[in-house]
Amino acid sequence: MIPSFTFISTPEMASKLGLEIIWADCNKENYTIDTDHLAEILSLNKSVKAIVGVDIFGHTCDWDTIKDIAGNIPVVQDAAQSFGGRYKGKINGTYNDLTCFSFYPAKNMWCFGDGGAVVAKQNYIDKISMSRDHGRTDKYVHEFLGWNERLDSVQANVLNHMITKIDAHNKDRRRIASIYDKELNISTMVKTADWCENVYNQYTVQVRNRSSLQTKLKDVGIQTGVMWPLGCHAQPVYDSGDRLENTEHVTESILSLPCWPLMTDDEIGYVIEKFNSIV
Ligand SMILES: Cc1ncc(COP(=O)(O)O)c(C=O)c1O
Repeated sequence: MIPSFTFISTPEMASKLGLEIIWADCNKENYTIDTDHLAEILSLNKSVKAIVGVDIFGHTCDWDTIKDIAGNIPVVQDAAQSFGGRYKGKINGTYNDLTCFSFYPAKNMWCFGDGGAVVAKQNYIDKISMSRDHGRTDKYVHEFLGWNERLDSVQANVLNHMITKIDAHNKDRRRIASIYDKELNISTMVKTADWCENVYNQYTVQVRNRSSLQTKLKDVGIQTGVMWPLGCHAQPVYDSGDRLENTEHVTESILSLPCWPLMTDDEIGYVIEKFNSIV
C-alpha cells in the first residue's frame, strides 16, 4: 500500500520487487497519506504486506495513527524529503520499522550526485546491506541477486560535511516558511501539525491559476516548481484507473515557492511582493 502522491521512486522499488501496489489517497492538510483511506483499504484487503508512508515536502505523516491502523503489518517511512525533521519529538529515522532517505541534490540533505540511506530494525539491516552490494556474504560469494547501490566515498564525504549543517539549514527553512506564512496573500499553505517538526523541503501553496501564475513569476525572475503534476497511480507506467480525489486535486493546484537555506531577507521579500501583486 503506497500513496499515489509521491515521486516515482517510492512505488518503483515495490514494482521492481514484483509486488502489487494498492494506491492510497493523500489528505488535504499536508498531503501525506489519508489515514481514513488507509483504514478503508486495509478493511477490504487482508493480504497487504507493507504500508509505505511518505513525508511530503518535509511534513511527516501521522505515524502513530498509521501504526495503529497497520497493526502487525510493517510500516516503511519514505523520509526522502524530511531529513532532520521530527514526529512528536522523535527524529525521523528512529521510530519506524524501516526509513529511507535520498540525498539527491534537490533534497534538504544532499550530495553532488545521488545517494541514499536506509535505517531499519536490525532484522532488516543484513538483508538490505547485502541487497545493495550484489547479495554478497563474502568478496566473491553471492547468496542472492542484489544491486550495485553502494554509496561512493566522494558523495559520502560531501554528506559528512552536510550533516554538520543540516540543523541550521532546516532551521533557516522554517524561518523562511514562517515569514511566507505571515506575509503571503493566500491561505492555502501547509499548516504544520503540532506533532510535526517540518523541514520544508518545499514550501507549497495551492493556486487556481497555476500555469499563468508560474509564467508571470518566471517573467520577474522567480522560479517555482510543480511537484508533482500527476499522481503515480495515473502515470503512464501504472495507469491504474483508480480515482483518488485528493491526489487529483492537489496535483492540479500545487505550487512550490523558492525556499532554500541561504535565501536573504531581500530575496524573501521580493518573492512575497511579486507573489502578492500577481496572485
Ligand atoms: C518522496 C520521494 N521519495 C523518494 C525519492 C528518491 O529519489 P532518488 O531515487 O532519486 O534518490 C524522492 C526524490 O525525489 C522523493 O521525492
